Amino acid sequence: MTAAASPALVTPPTDPTAGPLSVPSALQLIGNTPLIEIRKVRDGVAPRVRILAKLEGFNPGGSVKDRPALSMIEDGLRRGKLVPGKTIIDSTSGNTGIALAMIGAALGYPVQLVMPGNVSTERKRVATAYGATLTFSDPLEGSDGAIRLCRSIIAADPNRYFKPDQYFNEANSLAHYRTTGPEIWRQTAGAVTHFVAALGTGGTIMGTGRYLKEQRPDLQVVAAEPEDAFHGIEGLKHMASSIVPGIFHAEQLDRTIGIDTDDAYNMVYRLGREEGLLVGQSCGAAHIAALTVAREIEAGTVVVIYPDFGDRYMSTNLWRGWQPNELPGVNGRQA
Ligand SMILES: Cc1ncc(COP(=O)(O)O)c(C=O)c1O
Repeated sequence: MTAAASPALVTPPTDPTAGPLSVPSALQLIGNTPLIEIRKVRDGVAPRVRILAKLEGFNPGGSVKDRPALSMIEDGLRRGKLVPGKTIIDSTSGNTGIALAMIGAALGYPVQLVMPGNVSTERKRVATAYGATLTFSDPLEGSDGAIRLCRSIIAADPNRYFKPDQYFNEANSLAHYRTTGPEIWRQTAGAVTHFVAALGTGGTIMGTGRYLKEQRPDLQVVAAEPEDAFHGIEGLKHMASSIVPGIFHAEQLDRTIGIDTDDAYNMVYRLGREEGLLVGQSCGAAHIAALTVAREIEAGTVVVIYPDFGDRYMSTNLWRGWQPNELPGVNGRQA
């Protein structure tokens, strides 16, 4: 017999004839994302500790933000705040804007997005491809500058707009309470002991954390946060130097772990090379936090959110100047 890879190592793709044959729109594909076991990038974690990453890049808009965007728009429709003739507007560092643009297109509402001028070219193009109009704020003012500019645009013509307001809208965290949390509970058959997510609006960690803690009060909710104000981890907020989102309640976290930008980038390079998962910067940050808690325990199940995939960051600092190093398995960025 010839030597071949053990069949047990290769999982066949899902049977294409199983399950429903079609769904009525892209919106029905939001949620129910897969959990994948991280087997290699474990760095000294005990064998009885599992690390499971939830791949939110599988949402149709390409990120975790599809969930809160849909929830906030549904809430606006239900309350009569979003009616035909209105434009959906929001300030967004990118993924929420893409999600709103995708959902607006699917439902037939125009979308206007206010974002810092330095968000990645890919993100700008994707939002435009869904038909959204873009307005840019001063890159030096970060996401807070976009929030302020958006407020002044609405103030000039208040009846024209519906603003989902992801930083202050409880429908953001409720999306995760209703979907992300129950999915993780079901996918781990109740075995999850630690939940790790990076902080942007805080919606993911607040909603998912609250649901999981209701199922299991001793579960640990752990946040990954950029270590300093001038970081390069797109989508994340350094709370101490930012307008703190109204939906964010620090006291509901068990722990916050500060992450250095270069460490997050290096983790992204490793996840691509060692796990076959090409993900975004905030996934690298979240994974470092997951490893930190996983290394401290003897047994348990750590679930970490990977908010998106990496292909929308190819023009950003994450990959600019990057080259494979001569040392096997080690990559780096050149100055
Ligand atoms: C890439 C990325 N990672 C993480 C987050 C954080 O998610 P949340 O806003 O739920 O805290 C965001 C939010 O925009 C994001 O775009």
